[in-house]
Amino acid sequence: MTSAGSLHRGVPLTQGASSLRGAEQRRGGAFGVYVHWPFCLSKCPYCDFNSHVRHAAIDEERFASAFASEIETTAARVPGRRVSSIFLGGGTPSLMQPQTVGRVLDAIGKHWLVAEDVEVTLEANPTSVEATRFRGYRAAGVNRVSLGVQALDDASLKMLGRLHSAREALEAVAIARGSFERYSFDLIYARPDQTPTMWSEELERAIGQAAEHLSLYQLTIEEGTPFFGLHATGKLKTPDEATARALYDVTQEICGRHGLPAYEISNHARPGAECRHNLVYWRGEEYAGIGPGAHGRLDCDGVRHATATERRPEAWLMRVEATGHGVITDDVLNSEERADEYLLMGLRLAEGIDPQSYATLAGRALDPNRIATLREEGAITVDDDGRLRVTQSGFPVLDAVVADLAA
Ligand SMILES: C[S@@+](CC[C@H](N)C(=O)[O-])C[C@H]1O[C@@H](n2cnc3c(N)ncnc32)[C@H](O)[C@@H]1O
Ligand code: SF4
Repeated sequence: MTSAGSLHRGVPLTQGASSLRGAEQRRGGAFGVYVHWPFCLSKCPYCDFNSHVRHAAIDEERFASAFASEIETTAARVPGRRVSSIFLGGGTPSLMQPQTVGRVLDAIGKHWLVAEDVEVTLEANPTSVEATRFRGYRAAGVNRVSLGVQALDDASLKMLGRLHSAREALEAVAIARGSFERYSFDLIYARPDQTPTMWSEELERAIGQAAEHLSLYQLTIEEGTPFFGLHATGKLKTPDEATARALYDVTQEICGRHGLPAYEISNHARPGAECRHNLVYWRGEEYAGIGPGAHGRLDCDGVRHATATERRPEAWLMRVEATGHGVITDDVLNSEERADEYLLMGLRLAEGIDPQSYATLAGRALDPNRIATLREEGAITVDDDGRLRVTQSGFPVLDAVVADLAA
């Protein structure tokens, strides 16, 4: 990684640190800040994320002020944290002006301590227009981009309702490579009519353009999306179970061979290049959720709070302007819920979970009989140090493994 100085131009890290000087650093663990930009140019037919299309111009000034207010209010709840990662996700954050991104990062630096080596990721759609902003994002303090390439052929991109061509996406990847030391891109596989041979060729080509990190998602059919209706009426056919399994297996084989093993069920990285922000979620660390529809996990008064903000962008704006935050759900997680979350998130990781940590959270140990059965079935392994991991054949049935262990 480059030095913090060049990566964080525009983020007043020292100012933020000095404004908090004297404040006790309450804990040494990772702390992430997620910021949600809820707008897209069009809605992709498979997507159920909190993303909205607006035909009038977005008042970015107003959103930037609201983000700053919500950051200030959240920091007052969880003061003295040292921010180890920031993730600008969406929606399409690459529609934001670099100065809006700069204002968000300034607000974070003003109200929390920011680690010298903080990871600042921005999700970008790979159109040529968006790629022209990359240098501006870098100057604002972003040091990693994650591009939604999705597919490397135009017919698939059209089927997925994407607004970019494969060539444009690869050009955006090249611009990302020239602008950031760290970049990643997403592909969606298990698409209609995709065979393992087709996917292998596409993935090999993708890896030729990848650096240190790739996110490879199997297409999921989400309720409420246009794809859901088409799938239900048989007009959109996804690969059957055996083909999906073969697609998953070639993914692991090819990525492993190229030094990009899965560190999480859908995320691949060279060792050491994992997305630190994602690890915050999966390791059950603390994070703040800022912006419309953002989720957070905050430790206040010795208990963990699960927070969620108003999803509708304009309603979120009005709430923040009236009260300083857009939080509409704030639940204290009991020990059972915390332990279940630890299991659900942690077992997605190749590093697995520590059963002792589970027992501490749950107040009871995992059932040794269930562990033994899952081991016999080849779904999990138990390391010498006791860590429990899901195997390659366990990952395709991860939900069942988690349900079995949590029962
Ligand atoms: C919320 S999107 C934001 C990124 C950006 N707006 C874009 O589309 O490029 C994050 C990623 O989730 C993945 N994704 C969203 N919906 C999906 C689905 N139904 N199945 C598989 N992957 C999906 C896509 O790969 C996408 O890049
Ligand atoms: S996939 Fe990305 S661009 Fe498409 S609607 Fe969802 S968030 Fe927007």
